[in-house]
Amino acid sequence: MASPPASTSPAPPGPTGPPARPARLVVLVSGSGTNLQALLDAIAADPEGFGARVVAVGADRDGIVGLERAERAGLPTFVRRVKDYGTRDAWDHALAEATAAYEPDLVVSAGFMKIVGKEFLARFGGRFINTHPALLPSFPGAHGVRDALAYGAKVTGCTVHFVDDGVDTGPIIAQGVVEVVEEDTAEGEAALHERIKEVERRLLVDVVRRLARSGYRIEGRKVILP
Ligand code: GRF
Repeated sequence: MASPPASTSPAPPGPTGPPARPARLVVLVSGSGTNLQALLDAIAADPEGFGARVVAVGADRDGIVGLERAERAGLPTFVRRVKDYGTRDAWDHALAEATAAYEPDLVVSAGFMKIVGKEFLARFGGRFINTHPALLPSFPGAHGVRDALAYGAKVTGCTVHFVDDGVDTGPIIAQGVVEVVEEDTAEGEAALHERIKEVERRLLVDVVRRLARSGYRIEGRKVILP
């Protein structure tokens, strides 16, 4: 399948209204999949109006609740584990092939804890989004919640962004703010992460709905939503 240019929307709206067909989403997960579930619930609540549907769920590991959620929803799943491939590039190729098989308009990394490689980005760049549990560009990487807490930040939150070849460095689409409270210091990362995830799920659903329904443009670091 040919990739569209990075600056065009996945399902551009026609001159008179919404896209002709719902955008096809492939969602990648590594864990509990509550962000995936939020997307599935929002789409189920408004299948016509949402503007997108999940066509498959991919993972980098077996035995996770995220995959169970997909199966419960009757969705096809695929698992590509790094350790099953000789090189990281071979894994990246396998992940890209498995994803491409479902012809996604948008790929959503929703708690997918792997950095994809060059091939995946070449094929899905400009239509691959990620949700991160901190206010980028602060606290990128795998421990955004813990790092914000350890730094003593008074506010943190979540960021939905396009993925580029850095770690959580791509153009920002939307952010949500969460206050760090006194008790977070004592209770630690988990309580704060839960509060962030409540905001994050709503943000991700809103972003995917807007990208799918209205299209978007990426101009340098700026994402322009109509
Ligand atoms: C989210 O906070 C995401 O930003 C982070 O991992 C969490 C995934 O949660 N990378 P879930 O699997 O969607 O419940």
